Amino acid sequence: MYSSKVIGLGKYVPERTVPNEELTRYMETSDAWIRERTGIEERHWVEEGDGNTTSTMAAKASKIALERAGLKPKDIDFIVFATLSPEHYFPGSGVLLQEQLGCDTIGALDVRNQCSGFVYATAVADQFIRSGMYKNILVVGSEVQSTGLDLSTRGRGVAVIFGDGAGAMILTRDKDTSRGYLAHSLHSEGKYAMELAVKTPGSSFPSAKLVEFLKENPEDISHYPYMNGNFVFKHAVVRFQEAIVEVLTKAGLSPSEVDLLIPHQANLRISQFVQRQLGLRDDQIFNNIQKYGNTTAASIPIALTEAWEAGRIKEGDIVLQAAFGSGFTWGANLIKW
Ligand code: UT7
Repeated sequence: MYSSKVIGLGKYVPERTVPNEELTRYMETSDAWIRERTGIEERHWVEEGDGNTTSTMAAKASKIALERAGLKPKDIDFIVFATLSPEHYFPGSGVLLQEQLGCDTIGALDVRNQCSGFVYATAVADQFIRSGMYKNILVVGSEVQSTGLDLSTRGRGVAVIFGDGAGAMILTRDKDTSRGYLAHSLHSEGKYAMELAVKTPGSSFPSAKLVEFLKENPEDISHYPYMNGNFVFKHAVVRFQEAIVEVLTKAGLSPSEVDLLIPHQANLRISQFVQRQLGLRDDQIFNNIQKYGNTTAASIPIALTEAWEAGRIKEGDIVLQAAFGSGFTWGANLIKW
């Protein structure tokens, strides 16, 4: 048996910064409302002509992670790419990343678990390494959400939250099984699938019918994200805590032994709620939603990278990744660094 060790981390966000104040130009909202309800102060959004797409941002983050790992693209054996905002309906962004990095004809797997995407992607990559199938895996979360948001007042409950960006992590095979990823928890509850969703386009809506439908219903907004915010919030605070306790229990640890929790950056109030539930000190949790908003599958690798860059993660630390989101899906990964 082997374990998976993190040997490289990288992040990339578009240059364009969008402060809360800018959003007041597009919709009825205020800096005060957004800060108070979400903790967000600004986010980064792609802009026309900057060349940023889901895969190109992933490539930028991946190159940093590769350099830090001391590896070349040819050393990567497999790619796991988490996103809810791929460039195309198909193929997924994973193959575009494989081509841009110049990796060999390695496998590229796309993970479609929205905010929990990176937690799922990490667990998948870890299994491939533990089994001995692959040695070096690139795990990526990348999102361009700004191009799909309803920026009118109608969409303000969703639009103010989301940001664009990418994070990358390189996992490698290690013989020391007392370290690396020690436990995972992965869950879903599809009965709430439509509480946080983009309903069209989709195969349930044949393209020919969609064109006709849009002609007859020009005000249709089913191509914009829909979120039952309050409902999602209430489930998130319960499921985050459950997933964290589950992985800690599997590893025989208690919350007091956690060195750093990297929660998916959904809403600062959710992170603070979870922190209180688990009795964690401020130095045991990492939040950066203030600067980036909710970057969905990219939020954990961006936060992990920043935490590592800031010296908040040291050899031997117990680090937790945890997420909840559309699906509903949720989960956690526990690592001994
Ligand atoms: O990452 C994946 C999972 N996603 C989440 O975990 C998000 C979970 N949900 C949330 O974070 C929060 O529910 C939101 C931040 C989305 C919304 O905050 P809230 O405190 O639940 O607000 P609300 O939806 O209950 O709305 C309260 C009021 C409403 O006005 P009325 O009906 O009380 O007059 C909204 O119309 O705030 C209004 N509102 C806004 N006002 C100013 C909603 N969005 C905005 C806005 N600016 N952007």
